[in-house]
Amino acid sequence: MRRGSVVQLVAIGVVCGAGAALVAILIPWLPDPASRQAGRIDFVFWFVTAISIAIFALVAAVIIYAVFKFRAGPDDDSDGPPIHGNTRLEVVWTAVPAALVTAIAIVSAVVLAKNEHIPHASAASDPLTPVHVDVIAQQFAWTFKYPDFGDLTSATLKLPVDATTKLRITSLDVTHSFWVPQFGQKLDAVPGSFTSLPVTPDKLGTYPVICTELCGLGHALMRSTATVMPAAKFLSWAKAQQKQLGGTGAASGKAVFANNGCAACHTFAAAGAKGKVGPDLDKLREEAQRAGQPLEQFIRQSIVDPNAYLEPGFPKGLMPQSFSSLPKAQLDALVSFLAGSKQ
Ligand code: CUA
Repeated sequence: MRRGSVVQLVAIGVVCGAGAALVAILIPWLPDPASRQAGRIDFVFWFVTAISIAIFALVAAVIIYAVFKFRAGPDDDSDGPPIHGNTRLEVVWTAVPAALVTAIAIVSAVVLAKNEHIPHASAASDPLTPVHVDVIAQQFAWTFKYPDFGDLTSATLKLPVDATTKLRITSLDVTHSFWVPQFGQKLDAVPGSFTSLPVTPDKLGTYPVICTELCGLGHALMRSTATVMPAAKFLSWAKAQQKQLGGTGAASGKAVFANNGCAACHTFAAAGAKGKVGPDLDKLREEAQRAGQPLEQFIRQSIVDPNAYLEPGFPKGLMPQSFSSLPKAQLDALVSFLAGSKQ
């Protein structure tokens, strides 16, 4: 091969490689990682991307060069010269990809193993190694339960920074899927089974929690937020929530309302809720009258056994039946909050 041809080939390869590299770097394909797991996944992504760009540049250079250099003339109907292979070339194009694929497999395996590792508590008293959160999906809301903090529940996910959290994900009805793009991993929420996902957030901030499995009419609205906070702030949040949920009055009821995602479906002025999926809770008095029941009894029944009385215009089974498992104190507080009593 002449030296001029090599220079041409290399020049085309550099131009194609640079173009592909610019597309890879300048377009924000992925969100900035906010967890150690996502950082590792990003590393695999860039590792594979760099290899792909190099191979793309090589193949593009050879094709473009060949198209111009070996183009047949207008009247050239002759066959090309017979070629009986080139052992050295064949060894190279088999060995190099084999080495690259092996390297990708090793890097991926290391990242997978690291990402699935959950540290064991160094001291039994340390509530942050790891943090346990039960992620409960249902049409169409997320509930986050903290077994290490008296089973406190929250409609938004709160996590301490730089601590590994073990998310235990399940569903109460159909298959949903848990996803925080900045955490880099998705995991299905399957009814009747528990899947676990370790997350070690390493950047403070608030990120979207998204359902990524088509789960019904409200699928697109099945969103929440994940807030990563300093460990001390997380612990004081958990303590304050535990205290608030432990009460019985309307103030605790407001917290129960917020923590169970009621606002996703219902309108209720006292809670600033504007949901339109279920009945308007500002009209509970009229609804209780239609049902022919005293207000508080009607509210309690509608929470624990939502199909016992159906408000006209709303289908059976719309409201999840899972709230019958609310602890009694929380249920009492919620009923008195909804009934509007000023205790
Ligand atoms: Cu839950 Cu889509």
